[in-house]
Amino acid sequence: MNQQWLYILICMLIVLRTESFFVDITIVQSAVAKGAVCLDGSPPAYHLDRGFGAGINNWLVHIEGGGWCNNVTNCLARRNNRLGSSNQMVKQLAFSGILSNKPQFNPDFYNWNRVKVRYCDGASFTGDVEAVNPVTKLYYRGARVFLAVMEDLLAKGMKNAENAILSGCSAGGLTSILHCDSFKALVPMGTKVKCFADAGYFINAKDVSGAQHIEEFYNDVVTTHGSAKNLPRSCTLKMKPSLCFFPQNTAKDIQTPLFIINSAIDSWQIKNILAPGVADPHGLWHNCKTDINKCSVNELQTMQGFRSNFISALSGLGPSASRGYFINSCYAHCQTEMQETWFRADSPKLFNKTIAKAVGDWFYDRSPFQKIDCPYPCDKTCHNRVFDPQEHPLI
Ligand SMILES: *[C@@H]1O[C@H](CO)[C@@H](O)[C@H](O)[C@H]1NC(C)=O
Ligand SMILES: *[C@@H]1O[C@H](CO)[C@@H](O)[C@H](O)[C@H]1NC(C)=O
Repeated sequence: MNQQWLYILICMLIVLRTESFFVDITIVQSAVAKGAVCLDGSPPAYHLDRGFGAGINNWLVHIEGGGWCNNVTNCLARRNNRLGSSNQMVKQLAFSGILSNKPQFNPDFYNWNRVKVRYCDGASFTGDVEAVNPVTKLYYRGARVFLAVMEDLLAKGMKNAENAILSGCSAGGLTSILHCDSFKALVPMGTKVKCFADAGYFINAKDVSGAQHIEEFYNDVVTTHGSAKNLPRSCTLKMKPSLCFFPQNTAKDIQTPLFIINSAIDSWQIKNILAPGVADPHGLWHNCKTDINKCSVNELQTMQGFRSNFISALSGLGPSASRGYFINSCYAHCQTEMQETWFRADSPKLFNKTIAKAVGDWFYDRSPFQKIDCPYPCDKTCHNRVFDPQEHPLI
């Protein structure tokens, strides 16, 4: 290797090193006695980086994402990977973006206690089935896992929290919505509590073949995991429990302040709600789904229709001034965990504000933020994702 390349490589490694750092896993052994276990029966886990200085009594609890398993076949497949077993999880995780410990990368939360809760139940921490099938040996216990992990964090100091946030990305973002009020109820009365969901506002929309694919999928998830009793009651009293898996049907009744960060053309939702494989058997959408620059005029038009549906569904948040939202039109999914989209000179902005600034200003009541971007491709601050064409999403 010539010297110049070596030099560039070293510089890149230094940048990567300083923009993120590794945090050890904590296995919650005490959860097993409570039956609060991953799909395979192993104990749940999280990664905690302790707060310091003025942030010592502030807690950010951020939930990992990773889709859902809707039936025995798909849950069995998960049992052998990190999304279903703590035995398969890496022992250290890189913290960056909202989990960063440096003020220049994470101005409002860098000195908080920052926790990333690992996702291993497959139903956004809503499941609770007592019986364990002797053949499959699958445990559907997400709601118990949530409680056991929170109890462990309370004992580690969260019981003295002055400020607390429940957040998460993707299926973890959905968790932070569905569990927002129960999280608030667990921390002390005087704690200032807010929740935010990054890419967790999944909408109930028809796919390109006209079928209700995501609605059926969520119905299977809720049935398989016995989730109904752990979904917000204000919603399950009014409609079919599986519909209460959609934030648009539950968000209005959440009492705790809530902030939504989402793209109206979220790449996961385009790939799995609008144009899932089953709705596009000939793969006509394949190129468009991997790279938005490759979409045809018709496909872009269909996507703009999805954006309109998304914005309509956002009214499910209700009119409360305690709500905040940052809705851009970037082909992206999860924008808080990566430094480049959370807080950097070239990060996405809406009305000249980064996501980090909008969330920080909202949490500390410095200023509200309720903004929706103009349609794709008008926003030049986007980091649009380009996916590996070989990648085939699960659903
Ligand atoms: C499980 O769900 C997947 C995806 O929705 C489907 O293809 C498969 O047939 C289902 N399996 C069973 C046993 O229902
Ligand atoms: C946007 O923010 C930057 C830095 O905070 C500032 O320098 C610039 O003037 C702002 N631009 C507008 C149009 O408000």
